[in-house]
Amino acid sequence: MKGVPRPAVVERTERISQTYYWLEIRIIEDVIEAGPGQFLVIWLPRLKEIPMSIAALNNNTISIFFKVVGKGTQRLAKLSPGSRLGVKVPLGRSFTGMVNGDKIMLVAGGTGLAPMIFASQRLVESGKQVVLVWGTPSSQDAEKVHSFLKRILPGTVEVHVATDDCGYGFCGTAVDLAYELARRDKPSDVVSAGPRPMLASLVQRMRGLNIDPIVLLEEEVRCGIGMCGSCIVRGTPFLLCVDGPAFRYSSVVPYFEHKI
Ligand SMILES: Cc1cc2nc3c(=O)[nH]c(=O)nc-3n(C[C@H](O)[C@H](O)[C@H](O)COP(=O)(O)OP(=O)(O)OC[C@H]3O[C@@H](n4cnc5c(N)ncnc54)[C@H](O)[C@@H]3O)c2cc1C
Ligand code: FES
Repeated sequence: MKGVPRPAVVERTERISQTYYWLEIRIIEDVIEAGPGQFLVIWLPRLKEIPMSIAALNNNTISIFFKVVGKGTQRLAKLSPGSRLGVKVPLGRSFTGMVNGDKIMLVAGGTGLAPMIFASQRLVESGKQVVLVWGTPSSQDAEKVHSFLKRILPGTVEVHVATDDCGYGFCGTAVDLAYELARRDKPSDVVSAGPRPMLASLVQRMRGLNIDPIVLLEEEVRCGIGMCGSCIVRGTPFLLCVDGPAFRYSSVVPYFEHKI
C-alpha cells in the first residue's frame, strides 16, 4: 500500500564529506521493487515527512544520499543504526524505460547525484555504457564523494567531477563539463537531476546538440500518491508523484518558463 508508511529501521549511516550523508534503511518484512527516479517519503515522528530519491536498493534495504538544509534533514543526519522510521515507498515512476539507446550520460548537481547513483547501477546491469558527470560548488566535498563513488559504483561507469571553485576535477559547472563531453562522445541520451537553474542551463546547451534530455524535477510532495495536488509540475498537467519525477524536457517546457 503506497500511501501507508511501512515500518523501517536504520541499518548504516555514513558521513561521506562535510556536506553529504548516506543512510541505509531496511524495510521490515517487505521486499521492495523500484527503479531509478523513484523516491520514498520518510516520516520523522513529531516533525515532518521528507521526500528522498532512492540512491540504491538491495533487496529490502534502501539507501539515500542527502545534505542538511533544514530541520528534517538535520534529524536524518543524527539518526543512528537501530533508529525506527516509517517510509512510504516506492513512489513516482522509474525512468529507465524512457532512456534511448545504449550510450547514456547522467548529469547531476549536488544531491541530484542520488538518483544517478541508482541509475548508474541499473543501466550498467542492462548492458548500457554510462558516463556520470557530477558537479558540486566546493572542492572540500568533491574528492571524498568521488572516492565514495569509486567504491560503490560498477567499475565500468566513467565518473567525472566538476567544482565551481576549481579546486578538484574539472574547473567549472557540471553543465560546462557535460556539454564538452557530449560534443565529444555523442551520447544516445542524457538524464539530469539537480537545482532548477542548473537543469535550465543544461537543456539549453543540450538542445544546441539536438538532444532532448530527461530531467528530474522537484516540487513539494505531501501525500505522495496523487491525492492532494501539492506536487503539480508548474505550468503542466502533471503530478510529480505519479507522472514523474522524470520527464522529457520537451513535455515540461512551461515548468522552465514559470517564475519560481
Ligand atoms: C522527489 C524528491 C526527491 C528528493 N530527493 C532528494 C535527495 O535524494 N537528497 C536530498 O538531499 N534532497 C532530496 N530532495 C529534497 C528534500 O526533500 C528536501 O531537501 C527536504 O525535504 C528538506 O527538508 P528540511 O526539513 O531539512 O528543510 P526545510 O525546512 O523544508 O527547508 C529549509 C530551507 O532549505 C531550502 N531547501 C529545501 N530543499 C532544498 C534543496 N533540495 N536544496 C537546497 N535548499 C533546499 C528551503 O527552501 C528552505 O529555505 C528531494 C525532493 C523531492 C521532491
Ligand atoms: S504529493 Fe499529493 S498529489 Fe503528489
